[in-house]
Amino acid sequence: AHVWRGVMREYADRLGVTDASTVVTLGEGGTPLIPAPALSQRTGADVWIKFEGMNPTGSFKDRGMTVALSRAVEHGAKAVICASTGNTSASAAAYAAHAGITAAVLVPEGKIAMGKLSQAVIHGGQLIQIRGNFDDCLEIARELSESYPVHLVNSVNPDRIEGQKTAAYEIVSQLGDAPDFHFIPIGNAGNYTAYSRGYVEDAEAGTSTRVPRMFGFQAEGSAPIVRGEVVKNPETIATAIRIGNPASWELALAAREKTDGYFGAISDSAILAAQRLLASTAGVFVEPASAIGVAGLLERAEAGAIPAGSRVAITVTGHGLKDPQWALKQEDGSEVTPTVVDASTSDVADVLGLAPVG
Ligand code: F0G
Repeated sequence: AHVWRGVMREYADRLGVTDASTVVTLGEGGTPLIPAPALSQRTGADVWIKFEGMNPTGSFKDRGMTVALSRAVEHGAKAVICASTGNTSASAAAYAAHAGITAAVLVPEGKIAMGKLSQAVIHGGQLIQIRGNFDDCLEIARELSESYPVHLVNSVNPDRIEGQKTAAYEIVSQLGDAPDFHFIPIGNAGNYTAYSRGYVEDAEAGTSTRVPRMFGFQAEGSAPIVRGEVVKNPETIATAIRIGNPASWELALAAREKTDGYFGAISDSAILAAQRLLASTAGVFVEPASAIGVAGLLERAEAGAIPAGSRVAITVTGHGLKDPQWALKQEDGSEVTPTVVDASTSDVADVLGLAPVG
């Protein structure tokens, strides 16, 4: 059987990796592409879910972090720094721990999910909460990396985008060709840019016959690219993409142009409904931000923008266990309270509505 060696070794030729290269890897990439028959039936398209929550730290960031940390170590860096809404900090802390160097992570106070905070802490990251939002954190991280001996590993570092584009290669190989449409969340717009690049490269190399139309989605309260202006105080329950001034804004505009793409905004309630739908019909549990591509597909299909039979890939970017609180909320906002009964088989059968056999 083939043993997966992480994206730098699997795609060595395309990432410029040689035997002499430093490789810091936790075995990232090689994630499942899962068919979603219920979504296909509902939309008339042929829908596939790329489950990036299956990466070592539970998000797509690991694909970029293996390249960023490897290059940092190769250049002799002793410390890396990032700003984060949670997943980047979890990934940077884990890969830095593996490489034996320090990770400093700046996060917006009180606005990152508990699972992600726990990851940064247990991996030994130097975690600093900033009284401000992600955009403030990124500005500080950039300034620090210019004037102090710390290496920036946010997606403004091109090594991150290089690593993340490998997800597009995988989809082309899993489907045998590129899909017609690709749906994806947008925060800093790094991943939208990375997929676009991966798909374009495959088409140019003749590995695929088309470049998918790239459809990217932001939360309504945090949708600068859709609105065409910086959002000063972005708000959404999808904290991973609570970003008002995306770092890769210009690159994303160019990628939309190149792929005949689309940018849309989705309400928080539609995000949570899509999260529940995906979990309960496809068996895939993702964090709220990661469900926005599913919500985007439902909205675009409803609008008649997706021809019947189109092949659609949706990237779900992070695992649901990172931010589980939303799963325990009902649509009306009340908490789910599982039924409690005595330790009696017949009582349990009653609750389940089961009648005895025969
Ligand atoms: N989905 C999740 C789960 C994320 O954590 C992020 C970004 C995105 C989507 C958006 O990706 O920024 O490349 O457009 N999270 C960053 C972080 C900002 O700090 O973890 P993007």
